[in-house]
Formats: sequence, C-alpha cells, structure tokens
Amino acid sequence: MNPTSVLFVCLGNICRSPTAEGVFHSLVASQGLAESIHIDSAGTSNWHIGERPDPRAIEAASKRGIDLTNLRGRQAIARDFAQFDYVIAMDHENYSNLSRLATPDQQAKLHLFLEFAEGVSEVEVPDPYFGSAGGFPHVLDLIENASQGLLKHILAKA
Ligand code: 4NP
Repeated sequence: MNPTSVLFVCLGNICRSPTAEGVFHSLVASQGLAESIHIDSAGTSNWHIGERPDPRAIEAASKRGIDLTNLRGRQAIARDFAQFDYVIAMDHENYSNLSRLATPDQQAKLHLFLEFAEGVSEVEVPDPYFGSAGGFPHVLDLIENASQGLLKHILAKA
C-alpha cells in the first residue's frame, strides 16, 4: 500500500490523543502494516509539551496491553497539515482549532475521530482529564472502535 500518515489531536496530548496513537499503532502493527502507516499525536494547547501521558491514561491502556510510556506531548502546528494525510480531532473544539491551522486545500485532511466509529451515538471522544478514572476505559472503548473503522477506511483507499 502507499505510505499513509495519521496525526491524532486532542487538547493536552496527554490523555485522548496519545491513547489513540498507542491503540492505532497496536492495531496497525497487528496487521503487519507498521512500515506503511506512520502515526503521531499532538495537542492543540502548549500546556503539556515534553510530558508523558497522564498516569490514568497509561494505566488504562496498559490494562489492554498498550504501552504509552514512551510518548511525549507536543503541540500541533500548521506544518502538520503538510506532513500528514489525516489529522484526526477528538472533539469539535479541537476540530475548529485545527481548522485554523490548515489552508483551504488542506481542510479535507481534517476529520472527527468518531466519524469512523460504528454503532456509537456519540460524536466526540469526551475529555476524561477532569473526570474520574472511570472515564478512561470509556475513552478506550470509543478509540478502539474508531481505530478499526479508520484502518478500514485507509485500506479501502490504498
Ligand atoms: P486531553 O485531556 O486533551 O485528552 O489530553 C486534557 C489534558 C489536560 C488538560 C485538559 C484536557 N488540561 O487542562 O491541562
């Protein structure tokens, strides 16, 4: 397949988008596609640059066999729209902030992650940062679902 690149983006890049990076990477690797699909994550804010994912995100992902400990926060920049084929926002706020970084031609690269989920009534991956630890397994369920759909979409296009 043609090499494809995917950037997952949330607000802080310490909860949802690193979780999406880890889950999607694990799925892609399980299909033998790790060499073909480049994956990264970023935040729209600069609040957690250089930081590891939130300990609650690390813990919830590790229970599903996914290691997030090597990931570090970074901020999304306009050049990401030149470098990535897909820029995937977790919620509408992320989407509109990212939209401002993209040129008119690049807007089609921008998606809401749950566009790719099946059988889910939610349209946003909820921010678990200020909630209880119980929010993290739900975020993982949504991310696992949407990751399957995103990979199907990419393979159908490739
Ligand atoms: P994320 O969650 O966008 O899923 O990484 C958040 C992380 C940090 C903050 C908010 C949301 N914060 O306010 O620092």
